[in-house]
Amino acid sequence: MEVLPSPEALEHYLVKSTRSRVLVPTMGALHEGHCSLLDLARASRPTFDLVATIFVNPTQFGPNEDFDAYPRPMEADLEKCRSHGVDAVFTPVAAEMYAADASINIHEASLSHRLCGASRPGHFDGVCTVVAKLFNLTQASAAVFGEKDFQQLAVIRRMVRDLNFPLEIIPGPTVRESDGLAMSSRNTYLTEQQRSEAPVLFRALTEVAAAISEGKLDSPGTAKSQVTEAISSCKEANIDYVDIVDASSLVSLDEFTDKNVRLLTATYFGKTRLIDNVGLPSSKAGS
Ligand code: PAF
Repeated sequence: MEVLPSPEALEHYLVKSTRSRVLVPTMGALHEGHCSLLDLARASRPTFDLVATIFVNPTQFGPNEDFDAYPRPMEADLEKCRSHGVDAVFTPVAAEMYAADASINIHEASLSHRLCGASRPGHFDGVCTVVAKLFNLTQASAAVFGEKDFQQLAVIRRMVRDLNFPLEIIPGPTVRESDGLAMSSRNTYLTEQQRSEAPVLFRALTEVAAAISEGKLDSPGTAKSQVTEAISSCKEANIDYVDIVDASSLVSLDEFTDKNVRLLTATYFGKTRLIDNVGLPSSKAGS
């Protein structure tokens, strides 16, 4: 596996490389969820070079967020990349990714305002800008993004469509702990009590999704109230949002349709903000 610490090193790698590339962009602190994305990339593009990136992107963190505290276990991350068949890993530092007088970034004007975007202004512009740079730098033909960050996946798909990036987006299913908690690098911030309560997110979302698909809940409003009630019963939980949206436009639904529907939440446990989402299990939503 080649470790490429700078855009120049990546450029040299590209000059030598004869194969197409499939990209898995990450911020490091790799867990089984990331490893499943690496495996999915390898399985879905077996003849491509598998390129991972590890970069904690400052422009997607708000001023009071966890940029400084974000875990950076580089050696362990490289070992995981190696053991999951990564051909090359790009590990730049911020000064090499952003010129001091950088003045152009990507602004997504529709999908980003709601859900996570409402409490993280600028976050998805930061994500789009760095992902566009990673697409350009690696010249990948395909890239894998996890469904856990469902809004991010929708925003990236929109960017690829609207800016004509010549690459295919491959979605990766959420990987969960045995009690249902979605794997996240931020789970390590949870106290014992918070960790014991956090599986409520997946439990509440799946129970309500099942009730919707069985026709037991008549409106998104009632369904959202049930998820809210279940999560609020946990002492440490503080809901940012619970929503039921059209899976591609991310528009909140007033009534159930045959469209692809997604139930999502962001909930704080202490200072740690966790996100999760599920599709409906039946033809009611088609996801
Ligand atoms: O999902 C993430 O880890 C990040 O948002 C990404 C896509 C690597 C961009 O920094």
